[in-house]
Amino acid sequence: NKYISQYEKIGENKLRQLVNAFYHRVGQHPDLAPIFPKDLTETARKQTQFLTQFLGGPPLYTSEHGHPRLRARHLPFPITPKRAESWLNCMREAMDEVELTGAEREELYSRLVITAHHMINSPDEYE
Ligand code: HEM
Repeated sequence: NKYISQYEKIGENKLRQLVNAFYHRVGQHPDLAPIFPKDLTETARKQTQFLTQFLGGPPLYTSEHGHPRLRARHLPFPITPKRAESWLNCMREAMDEVELTGAEREELYSRLVITAHHMINSPDEYE
């Protein structure tokens, strides 16, 4: 009767595919690309580490970078409600592309909605 984490259910390989499909979209998105680095390799590497631990896998992000403090780490960037929706749209499209479906998808996506909304630090009209 072993506990199986969401990370184990999704699998390391599919998680990596998801992150790659996601940043491919972010890099082309008119609202998102301007606030991200041009080369998203390192961003994708950190996000894979973060999502691994977020899903109950090994604490890869924290062992390399310390406590995530995600809201604080996003304060240098204007995260508007519109950007949060764009981020979540890219994530849904990436989930479609890698065929992340069913309960694993719903569980992860609902947590990402909450986290994305928590990152908002600027009003839409600010830009
Ligand atoms: C880093 C934007 C939501 C996790 C970043 C960076 C930007 C950004 C511009 C810096 C990239 C870099 O310097 O490499 C956004 C926007 C969001 C959002 C517009 C919309 C709400 C999220 C969410 C999560 C997340 C929901 C968690 C699942 C991360 C992580 C990093 C990061 C782990 C790397 C932090 C580090 O430098 O160690 N994000 N983000 N972000 N974001 Fe987000």
